[in-house]
Amino acid sequence: MEYRQLGGTEEKISAIGLGTWQLAGMMGAVDRSESTALIRGAIDGGVTFIDTAELYGDSEQQVGKALSGGYRDRVFLATKVSKDFTAAGVKKALANSLKALGTDRIDLYQVHRYDPLVPVEETLRAMASLQEQGLIRYCGVSNFTVEQLQRARRVAPIVSNQINYNALNRSAEKRMIDYCRRERIAVISHSSLAKGILSGKYAPDHEFAADDERSTFPGYSGDLFRRVLAVTGRLEQAAEAEGISPAQAAIIWLLAREEVASVLVGPKTESQLDESIEALAALQPAGRSALRHKMNTILDSSDLPPLCPFPDQLV
Ligand SMILES: NC(=O)c1ccc[n+]([C@@H]2O[C@H](COP(=O)([O-])OP(=O)(O)OC[C@H]3O[C@@H](n4cnc5c(N)ncnc54)[C@H](OP(=O)(O)O)[C@@H]3O)[C@@H](O)[C@H]2O)c1
Repeated sequence: MEYRQLGGTEEKISAIGLGTWQLAGMMGAVDRSESTALIRGAIDGGVTFIDTAELYGDSEQQVGKALSGGYRDRVFLATKVSKDFTAAGVKKALANSLKALGTDRIDLYQVHRYDPLVPVEETLRAMASLQEQGLIRYCGVSNFTVEQLQRARRVAPIVSNQINYNALNRSAEKRMIDYCRRERIAVISHSSLAKGILSGKYAPDHEFAADDERSTFPGYSGDLFRRVLAVTGRLEQAAEAEGISPAQAAIIWLLAREEVASVLVGPKTESQLDESIEALAALQPAGRSALRHKMNTILDSSDLPPLCPFPDQLV
């Protein structure tokens, strides 16, 4: 495993982080009876960063179960307030998360998204108060723009922004990545495989099941899907030339940026998890940069719009 600094803090987190949205079953079926083994397997494999959220169905409970029996102190645990961003809402959400996760503190508590209906100052003041009480160690945000981040930072120290960032959505490179580097804010990538599309396993005629959120995303069906897969086909060839899988190439593309403190992956199985972790050892830093350059050349020559499920996540 490789460990990276969490922004301007003294903390180090694993460069591959375990995301847990998929464990809620909203991205296709998962075997819940395997989730404890999956989460503990990640920790035993060196993963120290685990990410969940109030919004992720029963994922917090699944994580809490896996972290019992001595695993809690081995991880830097992140969750999010996702629904009600008022001061009372934040306080209540944290209490629920602590209970579900079976812990007395959250290492990184994140505001899931910017809510135009609640002043961000109110949300962050509530977070700062929870931090003073020792219930959360660090405050982070997710899916914030530069302007939203600037506003939030006037109220509380923000150490990270968790954003939709992958080879098919490079919007964050317009401004966010540079801003985070300058301000020593950790970038945490989510949707790192563009929701599985960068794994190279989908054919143009694939239809996501109606209960899989991907069936509702623009670009995951129809003509745009076919155009996306034509580009991922070329990315696959670049991966093959390095003797690695397309998913590993997508992860390495992110690891090549030092601003990315952790690449969140969302494995459903132990083999997907292992494949993600093995990406770390596949190439040395110079090889990572060379592969990234090669992939960017392919991406630059395509005329694809950023593949992003939610337009407000264009940062
Ligand atoms: N803050 C936010 O708003 C936000 C939004 C999204 C996600 N997240 C966080 O980021 C984490 C990761 O994002 P994500 O799960 O949405 O997207 P992702 O990592 O891009 O895609 C995950 C999906 O890709 C497939 N997959 C994973 N590893 C694979 C491998 N090695 N080979 C082939 N296919 C593989 C699996 O689905 P199939 O096998 O069915 O294709 C899996 O469900 C989440 O779990 C969550 O913690 C945060």
